[in-house]
Amino acid sequence: ASKRTVEICELAPVVPVLIVEDITTAADLGNALIAGGLPVLEVTLRSECALDAIKAMSELDCGVVGAGTLITPQDVKNAVAAGAKFGVSPGATDILIDACEAEGLPLLAGAASATEAMRLLERGYTMQKFFPAEAAGGAPLLKSLASPLPQISFCPTGGVSLSNAQTYLDLPNVRCVGGSWVAPSDAIKAKDWAKVQELASAAATKLHA
Ligand code: 3PG
Repeated sequence: ASKRTVEICELAPVVPVLIVEDITTAADLGNALIAGGLPVLEVTLRSECALDAIKAMSELDCGVVGAGTLITPQDVKNAVAAGAKFGVSPGATDILIDACEAEGLPLLAGAASATEAMRLLERGYTMQKFFPAEAAGGAPLLKSLASPLPQISFCPTGGVSLSNAQTYLDLPNVRCVGGSWVAPSDAIKAKDWAKVQELASAAATKLHA
């Protein structure tokens, strides 16, 4: 499962973190991000229509859609039923990991310290989310983990933006970053898909893993 997570994280430098409040925006939002060059999409289970949004986005050409904010085994079941190709969680518990493995869902689980990263490594997870990236210590913390834990790669998420993303991506233990800045809620509400595509395109062209 970890190998598949690495492959997904290598598809683009940025994984947009999405909160979809209105199902009628899901397909257009996904298409704008994919057209901008960001095919890997994380739809967080933080809105009533999140599972329907995953379903709608899973039908788009060229996208790889996952479910974010997985907390419980039921979240995992729902995500898989909706068509999610991977899962993301802010932290990790054995119950959640077991559920993802039972469902065959690649999981990008969160860690914020050496101990948390080592626990996930013991379960075979060499690709992890570093969350909440900026609040937990930012690029200096991840840089400090690269030497003792070179076998673990990270997707830092939380407080990442166009202005600090490359600092993370320049680290040897970072494959991609996650962030909501490419899909701001005001642009989604206004259905300003040109704006979303422009933000995605700026991220996809300026940032390099
Ligand atoms: C989240 O789970 O909300 C992500 O960490 C996104 O964080 P961001 O809004 O700071 O990019």
